[in-house]
Amino acid sequence: MSNVPAIALNDGARIPQLGFGVFQIEPARTAKAVTAALEIGYRHIDTAEMYGNEKEVGEGIRGAGLDRADVFITSKLNNGSHKPDDARRAFDNTLKALESEYVDLFLIHWPLPTLYGGDFATTWNVLVEFAKDGRARSIGVSNFQPAHLDRLAAESDTVPAVNQIEAHPYFTNEEVRAYGREHGIATEAWSPIAQGKVLVDPVIKRIADAAGRSPAQVVLRWHIQRGDIVFPKSVSPDRMRSNFHLFDFELDNSDIDAISTLDRGEPGRTGPNPDNIPK
Ligand SMILES: NC(=O)c1ccc[n+]([C@@H]2O[C@H](COP(=O)([O-])OP(=O)(O)OC[C@H]3O[C@@H](n4cnc5c(N)ncnc54)[C@H](OP(=O)(O)O)[C@@H]3O)[C@@H](O)[C@H]2O)c1
Repeated sequence: MSNVPAIALNDGARIPQLGFGVFQIEPARTAKAVTAALEIGYRHIDTAEMYGNEKEVGEGIRGAGLDRADVFITSKLNNGSHKPDDARRAFDNTLKALESEYVDLFLIHWPLPTLYGGDFATTWNVLVEFAKDGRARSIGVSNFQPAHLDRLAAESDTVPAVNQIEAHPYFTNEEVRAYGREHGIATEAWSPIAQGKVLVDPVIKRIADAAGRSPAQVVLRWHIQRGDIVFPKSVSPDRMRSNFHLFDFELDNSDIDAISTLDRGEPGRTGPNPDNIPK
């Protein structure tokens, strides 16, 4: 079976360190892609209301014939639903779409510090309700900067289990990762291969050639050895399979350091800065 390690979260739950992301997979292709990923061995699916494919994720899981308990499912609260009653309704709809009584992890997708009076702490306390009633086994945030996390710490007794943030060799996001390490918040790295942009980098190609691995495997392995949780997206079963085979080789420290020095800081982002969304 799967040799994917599990990461212990601060609430006692465990999450497979490697999963499968479904951002930008059209609904019509999602069930097939999810079933294929599960057949390859993935046991962790990362979706969101915003992706428009929660229903098809549920179909794909059922299509693989697995028990619900054998798959770790994450979904996320959409940006239009931060007000408490909207958040409760949105969460109900997520469970209905997935046809599941619970999610393993539910996240606030973006902090939106310029909307709703910047009051994402009230939204967070609604997610705490979902954790208390057991319909979200774990709760966390996404795209939260240290200042946003400080605000949650001041206004809630519950520390997020994870912070899902952009991280890859061109944007290593060290400051937010360090905050997570210090406060017991696991880091999930989104766009782990920068949507493909890092795969042609000469440093990564050199390390991949020397290791006899693909550039994507090298970059994903770099994340794994940093201790982050990753869920690369692919609609190609061959790439899904190769992205899954990360646990039979290791990068040495000089390779890890060489990849980390590719960091370009702010210009290296592929997505928006969380302080500026929406503008
Ligand atoms: N919380 C957030 O705000 C947020 C934002 C973005 C993403 N995410 C999550 O993170 C997941 C992953 O991020 P992502 O989808 O943005 O990007 P990604 O996983 O870094 O890259 C996906 C892209 O790389 C290609 N690819 C995948 N494996 C490859 C390989 N082995 N060789 C060459 N190309 C390969 C894919 O094409 P093919 O499909 O054609 O293979 C796709 O175009 C998402 O699916 C989502 O779950 C979260």
